[in-house]
Amino acid sequence: MRKKEFNKSKIKVLFVCLGNICRSPMAEFIFKDIVNKEGLSDKFVIKSAATSYEEIGNDIHYGARDKLIQKNIPFCKRKATRITPNDYNNYDFIIGMDDSNIINIERIVGDDRDNKISKLLDYSDNPRDIADPWYTGDFETTYNDIIEGCNCFIKYLKDKNYI
Ligand code: 4NP
Repeated sequence: MRKKEFNKSKIKVLFVCLGNICRSPMAEFIFKDIVNKEGLSDKFVIKSAATSYEEIGNDIHYGARDKLIQKNIPFCKRKATRITPNDYNNYDFIIGMDDSNIINIERIVGDDRDNKISKLLDYSDNPRDIADPWYTGDFETTYNDIIEGCNCFIKYLKDKNYI
């Protein structure tokens, strides 16, 4: 990540997955909840996007929605969008969920010339992919992995003195 003065500007975070209806909106709402509880909401812009066209315009998957309700994470109605080449300039952190997301993100935005692209669980002590509940049906495991990743990501930002 290019050295940046985040005290002068908001930290812009884009969570990315394949469809933008399960993992990346869960990460968006979970991370928003974490920063809100820490009183840091005004320091961030937090959004999510897909790499595929499959679900564009669709709201969050009912399995992801039910998991957020069960865990008391606030969320709102939304429409899936696809990442654009210009998002690379607009965001500071572009965070995928698995290795194939990273490959697809780089296909769309080009080389990671400013080192902005990472995988959510790269921030944890146990880097790994976050399984796609669209295929596994296991929203609990995905939720726990995203919580771990988001908590490690905010710790990383604090350790770097970005917030
Ligand atoms: P997500 O899950 O990438 O976590 O949002 C998926 C949702 C939809 C599809 C694939 C993955 N799909 O092929 O439509």
